[in-house]
Amino acid sequence: MQSSKQSTNSFSSSLGAIMAAVGSAVGLGNIWRFPYICGKYGGGAFLLVYLCFVFGIGMVLMMSEFVIGRRSGHTPMKAFASLSPKRKGWRYIGLLGIITCFFILSQYLVISGWTLSYFFDAIIGRLATMGQDSVAISDYFNIFSTSTVRPVLFLGIFALLTAVVILCGVQKGIEAVSKVLMPVLVVLLVLLCVRSLTLPGASKGLEYLFSPDFSKLTAEGVLAAMGQAMFSLSVGMGVMIVYGSYIPVSDNLFRTSMWITASDTFIAILAGVAIFPAVFSCGMEPTGGPGLSFCVLPSVFNSMGGVMGTIFASMFFLLLGIAALTSAISLLEALSAWLVETLRGRRWTATLLIVLAEFVLASVVSLSNGVWSHFHITGITFFDFVDKLNSIYLPPLCAFGTVIFEAWVMPSADVRDELSNHGTLRAAYYPAFRFIIRWLAPLALLVVFVSSFF
Ligand code: PHE
Repeated sequence: MQSSKQSTNSFSSSLGAIMAAVGSAVGLGNIWRFPYICGKYGGGAFLLVYLCFVFGIGMVLMMSEFVIGRRSGHTPMKAFASLSPKRKGWRYIGLLGIITCFFILSQYLVISGWTLSYFFDAIIGRLATMGQDSVAISDYFNIFSTSTVRPVLFLGIFALLTAVVILCGVQKGIEAVSKVLMPVLVVLLVLLCVRSLTLPGASKGLEYLFSPDFSKLTAEGVLAAMGQAMFSLSVGMGVMIVYGSYIPVSDNLFRTSMWITASDTFIAILAGVAIFPAVFSCGMEPTGGPGLSFCVLPSVFNSMGGVMGTIFASMFFLLLGIAALTSAISLLEALSAWLVETLRGRRWTATLLIVLAEFVLASVVSLSNGVWSHFHITGITFFDFVDKLNSIYLPPLCAFGTVIFEAWVMPSADVRDELSNHGTLRAAYYPAFRFIIRWLAPLALLVVFVSSFF
């Protein structure tokens, strides 16, 4: 069942594979979610638990997806089917991954559209005109995000941008763009860190982020750490199966996964250092999510005054846009590669079909904040419903199916063969890896999934 493809449908090098996967992993989750939950659940104490989860389980899940992708050379559905020819039902785990990608991308597009719109607002100085009037800034965001035309327009532009990259191909599109944008993202982040750390009273922000407070590390915090580790590494939705199928056969999957996990974590921590010292220095309350990026931070940037505020606000929204773009690329690639394989169609047609469908779904998600906010599913708006699906229900389920498949259905010799590049690498870690995918990871995922109902 050896993968035969090593053509243009693969990354050209190990570095290219790492950059593309880091691009997928580094997203909104790193920038507005990680720093906030880290501070909320006990700073250094949370960080410790997070590091255990992200390296002990998240990275192992990533390796598992890479193994399935590279060994089969297929996208999720066909990958599962081809690795267990007698039990084709497993392909529905792949389908679940594809459905998850579909929902996540719709929500990602909405938020990316907001980011793009705010980037323009920052550049032309419109954000600066609101000064530090936090009521005016919040009102502006509420009116904008609940309006009908502008958010849909910007999400459409963002979707087109993502599609163009996908249409340029795996090497000339995804890999090339990631190799340029990832370093740009790090430079922007470092510049923001320097600014933030040199503001008066910055140390309070660092304290919030890092000083360990075990009394704040509740059971909820531990579950949040696990959920964040998975979401941040983009595992549990088949994206890494697709990227795995593009990884060169000579690549050491353990080393690649280690680099991706370390870079993702490092960038999440840097984001905290770029954001919270500045927030505290302004005497504002720490928060996460849209409230942080679109309400608190604009006020923080405006407090820097005039041109400086405009420059740093533009840099921040550019950074957020880059993080969102490279993640959206990986989601769209997973979806269109799946459609190409399923319909045996052309990349062009498949990508356009998916983008069109995503545009429709994302528009509904966007409108559910405004004109359609009275339309509820299970008592919540469609936006919140999709958010719940994406953050707590679908990924753990899909990741659970994936590890169970790899640990109990695929022959162990095949898994080891793939991880050791057909015996050319030692893969001394294999017994530990196997123990984790057989017992630890399924148990952790089950706990996360079941507890999400309470
Ligand atoms: N890892 C991304 C983040 O941290 C989210 C994501 C999940 C992106 C799945 C692509 C696929 O925001």
